[in-house]
Amino acid sequence: MISPREFHTRRQRLLRRIGKNAAAVIAGAPAAQRNRDVDFPYRQNSDFHYLTGFDEPESLAFFLPGRSDGEFVLFCREYDPKQAVWTGHHAGLEGARRDHGADQAHPIGEVDKLAPGLLEGRTRIYFPMEAENDLPARVQGWIRTLRAKARSGVKAPDELVALEKPLHEMRLFKSKGEIALMREAARVSVAAHRRALRASRPGMREYQIEAELLHEFTLAGLRAPAYPSIVAAGRNACVLHYTENGAELKDGDLLLIDAGAEHEYYAADITRTFPINGRFSPEQRAIYQLVLDAQASALEHIRPGARWNEPHDAAVRTLTKGLIGLGLLKGKLDKQIEREKYKRFFMHRTGHWLGMDVHDVGDYKVEDEWRLLEPGMTLTVEPGLYIAPDCDKVDKKWRGIGVRIEDDVLVTPAGHEVLTADAPKTVAEIEACMGTR
Ligand code: GLY
Ligand code: MN
Ligand code: MN
Repeated sequence: MISPREFHTRRQRLLRRIGKNAAAVIAGAPAAQRNRDVDFPYRQNSDFHYLTGFDEPESLAFFLPGRSDGEFVLFCREYDPKQAVWTGHHAGLEGARRDHGADQAHPIGEVDKLAPGLLEGRTRIYFPMEAENDLPARVQGWIRTLRAKARSGVKAPDELVALEKPLHEMRLFKSKGEIALMREAARVSVAAHRRALRASRPGMREYQIEAELLHEFTLAGLRAPAYPSIVAAGRNACVLHYTENGAELKDGDLLLIDAGAEHEYYAADITRTFPINGRFSPEQRAIYQLVLDAQASALEHIRPGARWNEPHDAAVRTLTKGLIGLGLLKGKLDKQIEREKYKRFFMHRTGHWLGMDVHDVGDYKVEDEWRLLEPGMTLTVEPGLYIAPDCDKVDKKWRGIGVRIEDDVLVTPAGHEVLTADAPKTVAEIEACMGTR
């Protein structure tokens, strides 16, 4: 669990970063309706959770450096015993102060009345510019209210800044507490992949394997996947964001599973690909081994001081070389890489930041240069090869094979640590694990 102290420290760091003439404001995620009278399970916005640990809709937080009446002001729902009968516990104003460290708490309905006063005299307002909500319009409304009072000497903010800039830089570097949560998400997700691997048999349906994953997540207390699980048999593996999960598992096909649990707001993101009947065919094995080699060459480039693009470039080189070796590409290695010929079979990047969001926040470039890796960053390494079922450029025997191998990696002072290393990965490990079913 992230301690109240750590939430407090995050707010202090943000306050220091934005400086004393500024204010930051952020809105909680709204409840989302699935259909009439039924909501989706609530999930707080990651930025909001990161700063407040307050996981209720209809909430809004102000961060006001140096304010004598309190630097953290939270607007939320008042406690309503009648509402509690239907939906259970909510913090109310008292809980916001007592359990979430708010210096002041006000009813959400009073935001528009009180916000101009909170922002008066500050020159810069930070708010999230990526979020799709009405906050930008409201901020403008509060500024208009202040500007209308200019003749009586009131100073209105005149600079709007993306809160993402300072906040996402903070989120990019994971603390000990955050890494512990990611380890647990990884541990449970690894167990889920092992379970799915052992459960898979010809004749089953993809959703039955999805059920095995969810079973393992939920038994461990991790109530939600970090993203919809991809369980893709045979040619379905060539659909990168396949989530239908309804097809039959066929003898002789591969099964690609891309699934990870979320643990207290932190994600795991693992992909494994294995033969449904327990034995790779020669073509499957060749493609699989090539992706595995590409992953190994990418991992070699994960250490402090390496640039973000180095693992990807290494994977591309290994894949292209191997594809030429197998006859799937023809020509000279450097030319094929330069012309991006590999993109017919490998059309995504080798990884992304991983954290509270599965595709986590953080800049990949700094001043037009690929970013240097530093200890505390977490990322995925996930090369793949996808040979479209209708690809007439290659021999029939290769068509419809889709392989991705994805692990979660922490950059450490000495290099890196693979957080998901216990999920079977080599051909021998996979065939051995499936042999004991
Ligand atoms: N599961 C999404 C991804 O691998 O990026
Ligand atoms: Mn991923
Ligand atoms: Mn994934």
